[in-house]
Amino acid sequence: MTSEIAIEAPVLSAGELYERLLHQSNLFILDVRNEQDYARWRVEGRSNLAGINLPYYDFLEDEEAAIARIPADREVLVVCAKEGSSQYVAGLLGQHGITASYLEGGIVSWGDYYDLRTVAEFPAGKIIQVARPARGDVSFVVISDGAAAVIDPLRHIAHYQALVEAAGARFTALLDTHVHADHISGGPALAAASGATYYVHAYDAIHPIDMLPARIAYTHIDESVQISLGRTTIKTIWYPGHTLGQVNYLLEEPDGGRYLFTGDGIFLRSFGRPDLGGRGEAWTPVLYESMYERLPRHLTDATMIMPSHFSTLDEGGENGMFLASWANVQRDNERSPGAAWKSLPVSCSVTCRTFRRSTSRSSA
Ligand SMILES: [Fe+2]
Repeated sequence: MTSEIAIEAPVLSAGELYERLLHQSNLFILDVRNEQDYARWRVEGRSNLAGINLPYYDFLEDEEAAIARIPADREVLVVCAKEGSSQYVAGLLGQHGITASYLEGGIVSWGDYYDLRTVAEFPAGKIIQVARPARGDVSFVVISDGAAAVIDPLRHIAHYQALVEAAGARFTALLDTHVHADHISGGPALAAASGATYYVHAYDAIHPIDMLPARIAYTHIDESVQISLGRTTIKTIWYPGHTLGQVNYLLEEPDGGRYLFTGDGIFLRSFGRPDLGGRGEAWTPVLYESMYERLPRHLTDATMIMPSHFSTLDEGGENGMFLASWANVQRDNERSPGAAWKSLPVSCSVTCRTFRRSTSRSSA
């Protein structure tokens, strides 16, 4: 009886789940893993996404009580580790008249899901966004005249290899904006597999705590390096503060389009923290200088800002694109240079202005 019910429950793939999350559907997430696993990570979407953690064994111990906690007027998606117990619970809910499906492959498949979509097309090429929604990670592939560059490649490189091969292109440059504290770059592995050059600023090839140098092969990049990619050009803008070696990459296409890949520099609703390297007090004024002095002179209102992370799906549109014009970022991002000057905490303002004065003196 149990297996018949489970087989009848509809299934939702990770890709289908992502589309539902983007469109603020009536979905209610029922996670039937144990409390510890749920606390560690779970399916997240827009800020108003509803859900509950009700372990699988609760349904075995007291089925009626467990089902009474599930809203009958919502469309329930049951999630477990790999899909077995969620398939059973979804069938059980269906038996009680609740519309329920289960996540194919469980939360493991959601964690491994990559979303690829073209976010910009112009005569000289296109930009494809490669996102890993469960982690809030975003990377970009630029293709122009058969040459491909990847900005902040994520660790599962097969997605990039398939994409670039399907486009009939070849990897030319693998560009990390910085060395990330929160995920592993796919840059070195892609470089080894393709022969393309892996670029990172040398300051980020030194560990900020023990000062040991990197043991991976890389090519140093700074503002003197300009990369020609097909009919486009990629310029480098040093943007220290989140890390000392953080750079932004400015893609300029022949028709005037400008795309700034900001890594963890400026996000759509916030900006990168200066304290993750353990040097928050020292790096905060450095970040300030980057935000207010180094970067703005390279920007126009129409420059598209392309960060490498998002915190919630609220930051993107229903089209799944995590980018916005500089004008809109200044309007919507309370912490952007355009909006934040007057609202900076006094202590920060004093520190930053002191830093600016001392910098001016030393450079005079
Ligand atoms: Fe980072």
